[in-house]
Amino acid sequence: SIVFLNDGFMPIEEAKISPLDRGFLFGDGIYEVIPTYNGKAVGLEPHMQRMFDGLAAIGIKSTKTLAEWRELIEQLLEANEGDYLGVYLQVSRGADVKRYHAYPENVEPTIFAMTTAIKPAIAADASAAKGFSVSTTEDMRWKRCQIKSTALLGNVMHFQQGYENGSDEILLYNENNFLTEASSSNAFIVKDGVVITPIADNQILPGITRKLILDILEKDGSIPVEVRNVSMEEVFNADEVWVTSSSKEIAPVTSIDGKVVGDGKVGQVWEAAFKLYTAHKY
Ligand code: PDD
Repeated sequence: SIVFLNDGFMPIEEAKISPLDRGFLFGDGIYEVIPTYNGKAVGLEPHMQRMFDGLAAIGIKSTKTLAEWRELIEQLLEANEGDYLGVYLQVSRGADVKRYHAYPENVEPTIFAMTTAIKPAIAADASAAKGFSVSTTEDMRWKRCQIKSTALLGNVMHFQQGYENGSDEILLYNENNFLTEASSSNAFIVKDGVVITPIADNQILPGITRKLILDILEKDGSIPVEVRNVSMEEVFNADEVWVTSSSKEIAPVTSIDGKVVGDGKVGQVWEAAFKLYTAHKY
């Protein structure tokens, strides 16, 4: 595949970075994943805004303007094959002359972009949707989860924990037994026809798929939405549970820790939301 590194495009085999890069040594960087369908990015502006917010939060001076990122993404998509591509963007603080914790001055950020194959877990046909099996565990990550940091070990360890149990994802809850999100997705529940998702605070990544779903449902108006704390008791008693992300869109969860969700089938509210999301996407 063709990737972008610092100032140009090249085959991935030719892309080389310094071992002193702080992205490598400290996980000191910000990333984004933007879904694209037939060359069209979904939620490009909110994705880029989240990246600018993350860079500002960790004190990396903005490297490119929105227009420059847009052009880079267009060129990257032209250079790579595929109808469903995730655009992966990463900006790390760059390579210093030594390993030292303080932010270095006068170091150029390292800019990297590549495409990844996304396979929307769900076929275009809602009736073909397969339910996700998930497990649950206490959220052991840091308290700045709103920053889309490349330091993903906390998320990776949680995902692995679920993966080793045969789970597709793992739902996380805080010390007060409230749902936060999943290891690489946001989480929603549906109860008595109401779609409910946790507040976007420092305990979760403010997912763009989450935001698009909330916006689409609010605009449509036929399904009520609540953004509030969700206890794990509510999760286990929900009619439906969903996990959402740029790569999996809205995935219906049909089993949690081996117990069925609702009637164990993919839910009707999920189907309605999925149709609205799919219509928005194209
Ligand atoms: N993951 N929460 C976490 C912890 C995530 O890593 C992600 C995305 C989400 C969903 O955000 P969005 O809807 O903006 O994709 C929520 C990406 C796709 C990843 O790391 O591959």
